[in-house]
Amino acid sequence: MNTDPPFVDVRNLHVNFTGGRKPVPAINGVDLQVRRGEVVALIGESGSGKSVTLRSLLRLHQKRHTQMHGQIIVGGVDVLGLTDAALADYRGKVASMIFQEPLLIIKMSQIRRTRSNGIAEGV
Ligand SMILES: Nc1ncnc2c1ncn2[C@@H]1O[C@H](COP(=O)(O)OP(=O)(O)O)[C@@H](O)[C@H]1O
Ligand SMILES: [Mg+2]
Repeated sequence: MNTDPPFVDVRNLHVNFTGGRKPVPAINGVDLQVRRGEVVALIGESGSGKSVTLRSLLRLHQKRHTQMHGQIIVGGVDVLGLTDAALADYRGKVASMIFQEPLLIIKMSQIRRTRSNGIAEGV
């Protein structure tokens, strides 16, 4: 059994969007643990908060219109406590994301082709 602490450890995460006329409580008390080497599928109906949960791992929501409470630890990093500079360093070094964007698949295959030709590095 893998007794390492989880690589991703989300506890009691709440995200409220405050940019509109009424606040939107998008997720309310999410717990999520993922260990190294583990593959996890997040499943739920449309609008249930899957994307908001995952975007929160990289703190991608607009700061001034988003309230986040709870704990997000990724690779030992306390994500909600990061300064802007440390956040920029964390993104890409500790955690990255492949977005659910169909056209990105085409772009990624182009990047791979470019790389294998040795012409350029990827983005
Ligand atoms: N930037 C935002 N501002 C306001 N509400 C949002 C924003 N992003 C997502 N939401 C709302 O949060 C809820 C969860 O959305 P989302 O995580 O995209 O759902 P899923 O990915 O499970 O389909 C939805 O009600 C959605 O309308
Ligand atoms: Mg989604």
